[in-house]
Amino acid sequence: MDQDFWQARWRENRIGFHEAAPNALLVKHFSRLELAAGQTVFVPLCGKALDLDWLCGQGLRVTGIEFNQNAVEEVFARQGLKPEVSHTGSLTRYQAGRLTLFAGDFFALAAGHLGPVDAVYDRAALVAVKPQDRAVYTAHLNQVTHTAKQMLIGFDYDQTLMEGPPFSVPGETVRALYRDTHAITLIEERAADGRIGERCNALEQAWLLEPLP
Ligand SMILES: C[S@@+](CC[C@H](N)C(=O)[O-])C[C@H]1O[C@@H](n2cnc3c(N)ncnc32)[C@H](O)[C@@H]1O
Repeated sequence: MDQDFWQARWRENRIGFHEAAPNALLVKHFSRLELAAGQTVFVPLCGKALDLDWLCGQGLRVTGIEFNQNAVEEVFARQGLKPEVSHTGSLTRYQAGRLTLFAGDFFALAAGHLGPVDAVYDRAALVAVKPQDRAVYTAHLNQVTHTAKQMLIGFDYDQTLMEGPPFSVPGETVRALYRDTHAITLIEERAADGRIGERCNALEQAWLLEPLP
């Protein structure tokens, strides 16, 4: 979606995607990523998710990118961190301790901004991307992370029942997008919480994507 759309959602506090606790599937299945303290996880389209704090709490270096600057600043504030702020091209980089968040457009991010990435955690990022932009999103994600392994958490529902975002990204779409680069395993699917669950009987799905040799 374009930036104006998302900035309006943040301005008007229409952020139903924001969860009040770290994502349950992340907490339950995080060990499948086999990360050790000190490794780096990249969180595209990160919002102000509490997942960021939870991942920091695992001793990981956490890097994210989000359009909305206030959301980025809120993550540091709630962790009691005073970030160093710098500018790189169109992006604003906030960094403190093990946490680095970029405010700006994911598509303006280059591999050099991130440095080595050990894993990607995508929760409600791919499902936020317009269907016609998904292939460009996944190609860019693979490019900037050198095709890192990934935990992907999204939704599968009948798209005729609701307009996205979040868009439905069923298994065949996950496979079409990532089968050339990753082995794909469905870790768990469960009834989605909240409005999307009530309205569309949506399934929330957690996928493990492991780079092909
Ligand atoms: C559905 S929300 C998910 C946020 C977060 N992952 C979570 O679980 O709460 C999608 C987020 O992506 C951001 N976003 C969308 N497109 C973006 C882009 N091209 N670059 C940076 N952020 C973007 C939006 O501002 C929004 O906060």
